[in-house]
Amino acid sequence: MKAFVVYCHPSENSFTKSMCDAFVKGVEDSGNEIIMSDLYKMDFKSDMTEEEYLRDANYRNTPDVSDDVRVEQEKINSADAIVFIYPVFWTEAPAKLVGWFDRVWSYGFAYGEKTMKVLDKAMILCSAGNPIKRLEEFGLLDSMKRVMLGDRLFGRARQMEFIVFDNTSRENELREKNWDMNIQRAYETGKGLFS
Ligand SMILES: Cc1cc2nc3c(=O)[nH]c(=O)nc-3n(C[C@H](O)[C@H](O)[C@H](O)COP(=O)(O)O)c2cc1C
Repeated sequence: MKAFVVYCHPSENSFTKSMCDAFVKGVEDSGNEIIMSDLYKMDFKSDMTEEEYLRDANYRNTPDVSDDVRVEQEKINSADAIVFIYPVFWTEAPAKLVGWFDRVWSYGFAYGEKTMKVLDKAMILCSAGNPIKRLEEFGLLDSMKRVMLGDRLFGRARQMEFIVFDNTSRENELREKNWDMNIQRAYETGKGLFS
């Protein structure tokens, strides 16, 4: 089986990068394959052009999507699962990943007369600086889940999972304390992705 990982973090010096590496190793150790888009490394262009906006807003299949978008769409259709790995920025994914959805989830691919396959599985692994309790108290966790699972992924995967690694901001002493446990959790999650 093949998992497409869409990874988005501006720095290699991060918990999120270590979590991503552990997850990928877990998937590979379980005998499965990974393809990856590292959006910052690729310098993925996240702003829509006016032409792209008018195409999608008018529910048109023309003009064809640009090459960088087509490559991402082909990766999706060649995979069995899609996994998004990112840090929470202002209760959302980083802007680059939000822009990836704006462009890759195009008319005629992700909506309208869809050519996007229904994936077996979609998974979100995100790191959050706040404790999960605080995210729950203010409805922020619910809001993140609704946007990712109830809108972007809705109907596009048979199984969906949203996993938060909390307390990971640099001033939080739990970041270091829980580091190994969280990395192990990411590894096991990768290992169990297709089981
Ligand atoms: C611009 C920015 C916005 C952030 N917004 C949130 C937020 O809304 N909620 C939250 O729990 N953590 C927030 N964080 C903390 C990040 O999620 C945290 O940096 C990440 O979980 C773990 O750090 P690392 O992977 O960069 O090492 C924010 C961090 C930055 C830099």
